[in-house]
Amino acid sequence: MKTKESLLQDFREILVDLKEFLNYQKNIGMEGFHFSSGVIDKATLYQTIEMDGSDTRACEERLTTLKAIRNQLTGCKRCKLHLERRNIVVGEGKENAKLFFVGEAPGRDEDIKGEPFVGKAGQLLTRIINAINLAREDVYISNIIKCRPPGNRNPEPDEIAACKPFLIEQIQVIKPEVICTLGTCATQTLLGTDEKISELRGRLHHYDGIKLIPTYHPAFLLRNPNFRRHVWEDMQMIQKEYLLLTSN
Ligand code: URA
Repeated sequence: MKTKESLLQDFREILVDLKEFLNYQKNIGMEGFHFSSGVIDKATLYQTIEMDGSDTRACEERLTTLKAIRNQLTGCKRCKLHLERRNIVVGEGKENAKLFFVGEAPGRDEDIKGEPFVGKAGQLLTRIINAINLAREDVYISNIIKCRPPGNRNPEPDEIAACKPFLIEQIQVIKPEVICTLGTCATQTLLGTDEKISELRGRLHHYDGIKLIPTYHPAFLLRNPNFRRHVWEDMQMIQKEYLLLTSN
């Protein structure tokens, strides 16, 4: 297997040869020319390496910005939730995920571990992700607010207002193609509406030009298993969008 450097050297030599060849052709009045298949293979390989390089740089930049967001949140006291939280649950997953799940707020297990969706609802979310042939590592998972509200009560407007900018920044960095909002709080907050989740789900929406597909929260699903059919329909919509992306 050739190294990237030796492939680049090959390519430079080809370019020098090509320039001389084209000059010679021009001087003798020729207008067309032929590449050997070997040259075409090398040029294609070079292009692939260059593209991989720019992808790698984009991922590095994303990782750096995600780290900066995490740093901005360290020791956060922007709202009253800092008084009782154990850990700030910033988010986790692939820095260039095409699919971004947004929940409501960390619960007890997440507060202890500092990771999103690791309790019972999280285990169900993992199974839902697996059901559309993806792994948790393929997606990004975060919440509207990053600290646990005492007793898992609903997030209050001032807490959402203080924390929402960090989610917006995460979305801007990761640049997902599809956002799946889990439950009422995430859906209403990102869509800026107070319509019910039962009316919002089952339809494609947009947030800042990104496709947004709402569904029921996994914790709600644990209490109301007869809603599984609706979540499955929403997941199939997501899978369809995802397959469209990956087949392009
Ligand atoms: N519920 C949420 O909305 N988010 C979590 O991270 C865990 C449970």
